[in-house]
Amino acid sequence: MLIVFLGAPGAGKGTQARTLAEKKNLTHLATGDLLRAEVAAGSDLGLAAKTFMDRGDLVPDDVMIRMIQGRLDSPESAGILLDGFPRTVAQAQALDDALSAEGAGVDRSIYFEVSEEELVRRLAGRSTCPGCQRAYHDTFNPPKSAEECDGCGTKLIEREDDKPEAVRNRLKVYGTQTTPVLEYYKSAGILVEVDGEQSIVAVQTDLAAAVV
Ligand code: AP5
Ligand code: MG
Repeated sequence: MLIVFLGAPGAGKGTQARTLAEKKNLTHLATGDLLRAEVAAGSDLGLAAKTFMDRGDLVPDDVMIRMIQGRLDSPESAGILLDGFPRTVAQAQALDDALSAEGAGVDRSIYFEVSEEELVRRLAGRSTCPGCQRAYHDTFNPPKSAEECDGCGTKLIEREDDKPEAVRNRLKVYGTQTTPVLEYYKSAGILVEVDGEQSIVAVQTDLAAAVV
């Protein structure tokens, strides 16, 4: 099974992906998390990607396509949940090409619909664990202890790209470069829309019904 999560920055992709991946025994592949791990490790890829990420631009397609190829096998799980990839039509086509070479394809693409006002509210109040990448929110999803990750105890941080200027650019980039991917999957007849504006638990319920 291969599922793609689509949605604007702050739509709740990572939050929902964690729960769904656990419930359905899927491998959660989040390209933003993979890139942040490269940045933290100080690798050449991380250094090159950081400039794009900090200002809220997309990392070039060829880098991202290379990153995802070779990770599409999931021998130890029931399938793959892609969170943050593809975000351009070129990436979506490259994904289809890689999968069709294996006689496979994307099974479902889930689009989390959330208003811009709510996205800004979510990103402004988010704190993130640099260890396991879990996201929290001051109001909507606070950690048990004010500054530490519930899962691994690491001190929470604010992502560099959650600063207001980067958020503005990320939303703009999403509108121009990623929204055409919705049409790509809609034409393929595999796009499912979920109302991402609801509470975390309500979205979880809708998602469970969409991915059977
Ligand atoms: P990435 O890390 O993928 O960031 P993003 O797509 O901008 O999405 P976010 O992680 O910010 O949001 P999310 O939808 O996961 O929301 P979350 O669950 O955290 O990418 C970062 C950067 O890497 C990109 O800008 C780009 O530079 C690069 N990159 C990555 N992939 C790439 C690719 N394929 N091509 C090129 N470049 C790439 O939730 C947000 C907040 O809301 C949290 O505080 C959470 O607690 C809260 N929340 C979640 N759900 C709800 C709810 N239902 N109600 C209330 N609050 C909620
Ligand atoms: Mg995320």
